[in-house]
Amino acid sequence: MWLYAKSMTPIPLILDCDPGHDDALAMILAAHNPALKLLGITTVSGNGGIAKVTLNARRVATLANINVPIAEGSGKSILGAFEEASDIHGESALDGAELPQPVMELSSLHAVDLIAKLVRENSEPVTLVATGPLTNIALFLKMYPNLKTNISEIVFMGGSASRGNRTPYAEFNIWMDPEAADVVLRSGLPLTMCGLDVTHQALVTPEIFARLEKMATPVSKTIIGLLKFFAKTYDEVFEMPDPPLHDPVAIALLIDRSVVKSRFANVQIELNGNLTRGATVVDIYNRLGEKANCNVALELDFDQFWELMLQAIGKIDATK
Ligand code: RIB
Ligand code: CA
Repeated sequence: MWLYAKSMTPIPLILDCDPGHDDALAMILAAHNPALKLLGITTVSGNGGIAKVTLNARRVATLANINVPIAEGSGKSILGAFEEASDIHGESALDGAELPQPVMELSSLHAVDLIAKLVRENSEPVTLVATGPLTNIALFLKMYPNLKTNISEIVFMGGSASRGNRTPYAEFNIWMDPEAADVVLRSGLPLTMCGLDVTHQALVTPEIFARLEKMATPVSKTIIGLLKFFAKTYDEVFEMPDPPLHDPVAIALLIDRSVVKSRFANVQIELNGNLTRGATVVDIYNRLGEKANCNVALELDFDQFWELMLQAIGKIDATK
């Protein structure tokens, strides 16, 4: 079990994502909380193709005044697979509201090389947060093994200690690139997994929508449009009228570890199962007798989570 001191200096982090509605809110929380220092954003295909999610990252950064380097990453999984989640996120991968044209340029570096550059340049070890398939993170670990000592932790939204969402047993991010997830789980680095068990508690309830409506700012109105779309598709596909805002949970726990309750356990990736490929096998009761390798977040402090999320949204206009 890794013990985490509440750090007084802002935690340096890089966010690798596939915006995506919940990724967009994760970007906002990562950029607008004083406990964190967002060094850069990298993109990976998942909710949409790489061009779509990269354009979305730049448009959300423009909307939310997030001025950090943004680099495009892998368009396919390590084995070359690719599928969009347009049934949830729509054709643009971020449907539901008009987003500004991007003002920030795209980095000329590939995502993996931007991660390496930012890690090298930072005097302190850097936290990697992944809210999409783990392809870029796995490639970084393989291409820059000498930089592993500069990584303090990898926090990823993905997997589940129970059922899946892309297949009955596999969650979308892990299912998209199980080999990449396997590289991360075997890396030996401090890991925290925010799977569906905890993220399905981060619901956008009518009360949360009411608090967003009360903000009545151009940004909050755009976010409401995005989340209303997300709520509609989640209800249609998963019969969940209050959609789960998965990705910001991985950011919130960095701000305050007490936002989640987690269990240190052995987590392995099923690579070969006909019906279970991409499942995260979370051995909560250590039945396999394997070494624990990952903090698995299982419970969410709903009120604390939403305080952090709504505070960050409220801060955006003040930074403009
Ligand atoms: O299964 C949920 C995850 O898949 C979230 O990260 C969502 O953005 C999609 O990428
Ligand atoms: Ca995502």
